[in-house]
Order: sequence, then structure tokens, then C-alpha cells
Amino acid sequence: QKHLLGLKEYSREDILFVLEQAKYFREILDRPVPKVPTLRDKTIVNLFYENSTRTRLSFELAQKRMGADVVNFSTGSSSVKKGETLKDTIRNISSMKIDMVVVRHESPGVPYFLTRVVDAAIINAGDGAHEHPTQALLDMFTMQQVYPDLEGRHIAIIGDISHSRVVRSNIIGLNKLGAKVTVCGPKTFMPVFVEDLGVEVSYDLEETLSSCDIAMALRIQLERQDAGTELFPSIREYHEKFGIKMEHLEKYPNFTVMHPGPINRGVEMESEVADSDRSIILSQVTNGVAVRMAVLYLLSGGTRI
Ligand code: CP
Repeated sequence: QKHLLGLKEYSREDILFVLEQAKYFREILDRPVPKVPTLRDKTIVNLFYENSTRTRLSFELAQKRMGADVVNFSTGSSSVKKGETLKDTIRNISSMKIDMVVVRHESPGVPYFLTRVVDAAIINAGDGAHEHPTQALLDMFTMQQVYPDLEGRHIAIIGDISHSRVVRSNIIGLNKLGAKVTVCGPKTFMPVFVEDLGVEVSYDLEETLSSCDIAMALRIQLERQDAGTELFPSIREYHEKFGIKMEHLEKYPNFTVMHPGPINRGVEMESEVADSDRSIILSQVTNGVAVRMAVLYLLSGGTRI
């Protein structure tokens, strides 16, 4: 494939292949000199219209570990502030002779739009509430470190389902790998057509935690709630009913804790849960570099490593 726009376009075999290739890059990261100059002749632009810590830095690190020339674009210091359109911005950047664009944007579909405007390979680093494919790939890679075969495993995703691009990409990917997915949260955080997602739906955290292998909590995305409407349930009520607590870890000794970040500590989970030995949240972050190295390698024309 030339682009990575979403996991919808990736088959089960494509996903398993990327995850397999990522194992090699994960080993590289533990070497004293974690470099593999496979992108030495490539120029990559990281085009971030929305804030990011993990995705932007791990893409940049992955690119630098692979020897690419890297340019970072952020709207705050660009001519977007003077009113330049997305189309003009990308066409001007493309005229500087680039090979790949990693794009994050608040509008769903922007990565697709860019494929029609420029020749470069496009990687979706999160488009609105649509997809975040490299996040789901790194999540599945991390799950595989606990359960090498995800077929039949029960993965619970808890929180703000309706605003989450992470949940969409994870559902698509996990369904293709044969996992059982439950989404759990208050009714007000569920999309209208939640039954069409191809997952179980639960409004009961205790029941969900009692049966899942992995519980991935999602951030409550306050910035994407409708302006002027009061959050219902409130943050306090949400934490009471859907926050993962230390008492849950004691009561249900099976499940492993994940979170794509950034965490609202004390909302999605108690701070102690995030830092406990049941949490693999920081492994997700480390694995993010390896998975993005694999994606960059394969989209730049690399074959099996
Ligand atoms: N998980 C994730 O996308 O984090 P950032 O927004 O910090 O990139």
C-alpha cells in the first residue's frame, strides 16, 4: 500500500504483517545504538494541525532513528495563521520535494484529501473522530506482548466512545484479528449507532472488568464536547461509575490496564492504577516508536525485513 489512511483499508494479513515487522524494530530500540538507516534518502514532513505529544514525538524519533530528513510543521508558527488554506499549505510543502507526510487534523477525511492533492505517501496520525491507525497498531502490538494470539481475547474499551478515533481504529483492527471487543461507558458517551460498530456494548463497569483480559480506558475529550452543553455525567460522576480504581485491580486479578494517553488522572482511572504493575501504558508509548518505524519502512517501499 502507498498510504496508511485507516485500518479499514488494511486486511487481517496486512495488520499481522505490520505487527510482525514491528518486532524487528522493537529489538533495535533496545540496542546501545538504536539506529537503522533504512530511510536515508527520504524526506518526511510531520504536519500537525492538532496538539500531540506521543504521536508527533514518536514519529519524529522513528524517522530520525531511520536516518530520514525530517521537517516539523505546526500551525502556531506557520502561515496558516495568515489564512493559508490546507490545500495551498500542502501543495507548497510538496513543491519542496518530499516523500512522505504524517498528518494530524481535526477534520475527518483530511488524509484522504491530501492523497488527491500531492504525490507523497500520506500517513494518518489522527483525523478528527475518524481514525488513528498507528495508535491502534501500537495498541495491538502491545496487547500481543501479553497475549501473542488475540483471537478470542476479550478487550474492553472504556470511556468517551463517541468522540474517539482510537476506539474506531481499535475496533476495526481487533475485529480483524478475531478479538471480542466490548465498549463500556455512559449512554451519553456512546455514538448513536453504537450497535452498528460490531462490538458488545456495556453500561456496567464491574461486569466488564470481571470478564475482560485487557481494559483500555479512553480520555474524556472535553475539547470535543458540544460547546455550551454541560458534560453529563459530570467528571466526578463519571469517575465514580466508570473510573478504574485500585479496588477493581484487587477484585478482578485478570485484566491488564491500557490507555492511549494523555490520561486525565483521577478521571478515567485512579493515579495509582496508571502507575501500578498491572498497567502497560508506558510500554504502549515505547512500542509506538517501533510500530511507526515499521509503518514508515513499509510505506517507503521496504519489503519483509
Ligand atoms: N495517543 C495519542 O495520540 O497521544 P497524543 O495526542 O499525545 O499524540
